[in-house]
Amino acid sequence: MIFPPELISFLRKAERVAALTGAGVSQESGLRTFRDSQSGLWAQYKPTDLASPEAFARDPKLVWDWYAWRREAIKSARPNPGHYALAEMESRVAEFSLITQNVDGLHRMAGSKRVHELHGSIQRVRCSVCGRYAETWGDDSDQVPACENCGEMLRPDVVWFGEPLPRSELEAAVKASCVCDVFFSVGTSGIVQPAAALPFAAKNKGAAVVEVNLEPTPLTEKADFFLQGKSGEVLPELVNAVWDSTHPSR
Ligand code: OAD
Repeated sequence: MIFPPELISFLRKAERVAALTGAGVSQESGLRTFRDSQSGLWAQYKPTDLASPEAFARDPKLVWDWYAWRREAIKSARPNPGHYALAEMESRVAEFSLITQNVDGLHRMAGSKRVHELHGSIQRVRCSVCGRYAETWGDDSDQVPACENCGEMLRPDVVWFGEPLPRSELEAAVKASCVCDVFFSVGTSGIVQPAAALPFAAKNKGAAVVEVNLEPTPLTEKADFFLQGKSGEVLPELVNAVWDSTHPSR
């Protein structure tokens, strides 16, 4: 891919870079995106109908099993070149913040250090009532495992629709978005708030906004650069173009 010279120059000069990622950045690791149709047993459900407190109240075992199924799928997933390129970018820029909507943990697995998990992590499990984290839990096929502390049902430590985001993660994400020189939006449909507002906040504060996606989104017309393609291909090529041997990192 040929990158606009202004983008290359922006990134070479950038002191602060922020990147917002969504399910698209993990698609090349074999993980389905939210708005892809689901496969197999889950084809009859929409993720948005399962990732909510109402769904958990209505049928806790169904929701628990869906997350257990996704946790299993993630176990065999590995970071792809897009994750590694973002980790590389962090090592090349004075101040880099990775803000992710993903709960799969692949950014940290790829070596990213400063990661803000806006929607929590599927790898963590906590009590739905007392909030205590569980390191291990039974896999009774008939019911949702119970909290050892209070006996109530466990749940995945992810943000469901209608639930508040973890305050410290959101505050850090907003701050990073408002002070960065360049803001990336990678592999996200830009539909779910408040994450979807971050690139607009960055733009309003004068950042150059770069979108990497297979197709246009509500952000595209506002973005300064739209790099259409797979993040696992575009990002490594961009990192090489900006920080090749003639332009070593800071
Ligand atoms: P979506 O499934 O809504 O969007 C995935 C985006 O990634 C789409 O815009 C695709 O075009 C794009 N995409 C797919 N494969 C790609 C690839 N290889 N390279 C680049 N782009 C690619 O997923 P999210 O935007 O992450 O929230 O969804 C945001 C939130 O909605 C999720 O965090 C979740 C969901 O409901 C909660 O669960 C609270």
